[in-house]
Amino acid sequence: MEDGPDLPGASATLRRLRPDDAPAYRALMLQAYAEHPDAFTSSVAERAGVPLAWWAARLREGALATEIVLGALDQGLLLGVVGLRCNLIERTRHKALLFGMAVASGQRRLGLGRRLVEAACAEALARPGLRLLQLTVSEGNLPACRLYEACGFRPYGLEPMALLLDGQPIAKLHMWRPLAGAAGPAWEDRPGRTPAPELEPRSPR
Ligand SMILES: CC(C)(COP(=O)(O)OP(=O)(O)OC[C@H]1O[C@@H](n2cnc3c(N)ncnc32)[C@H](O)[C@@H]1OP(=O)(O)O)[C@@H](O)C(=O)NCCC(=O)NCCS
Repeated sequence: MEDGPDLPGASATLRRLRPDDAPAYRALMLQAYAEHPDAFTSSVAERAGVPLAWWAARLREGALATEIVLGALDQGLLLGVVGLRCNLIERTRHKALLFGMAVASGQRRLGLGRRLVEAACAEALARPGLRLLQLTVSEGNLPACRLYEACGFRPYGLEPMALLLDGQPIAKLHMWRPLAGAAGPAWEDRPGRTPAPELEPRSPR
């Protein structure tokens, strides 16, 4: 969806967050954890307890930084975020993980999520050696599954009982997206493949 000029959030600009964005980043994520406990691995209580320095460290720049967080900002307000985690291990550094995706509840369905994921993909493409992105999403989180699917991610596995929320198991769908020029055979074309898990939500727990 193209942003129109009258939509709130349409004028949002995207940029990498810096350590001084930590208070706004923390506030947005704590709200997301509180509103969508089944969508995240961390609980709001756990993350509310970590010091601001932890959030700022996640946003630090420099040669040793393995995480970047992109934010959508409008008039100084942080409306959405997504993270990209690279790793330094020789045999796995062609993969990066998309994490911490959240758009403020009043700003959804305006295209911000898609812009953030696409910006993260562009950031990944610009990093030499990166060949694919991975992410996990709770089974039944239809808005997020649809967003990732719309951005070219495909499911490759379902992790049963990935989370226990108040004693109830939640499965996590694992998705991936090759970066341009790095694609092997598509899931559908692999000989002897097992069917990809469905994106549709199952019956309520
Ligand atoms: C998932 C989330 C980030 C989507 O952000 P968003 O800004 O609303 O997404 P967009 O407006 O960019 O939507 C892009 C596409 O995603 C899909 N989508 C988004 N929300 C949807 C919904 N409620 N129902 C169905 N599809 C949806 C659509 O395909 C949409 O394209 P369209 O608008 O052209 O139909 C947002 O709902 C959110 O923050 N949810 C709570 C936290 C969360 O679940 N995070 C993900 C953890 S893995």
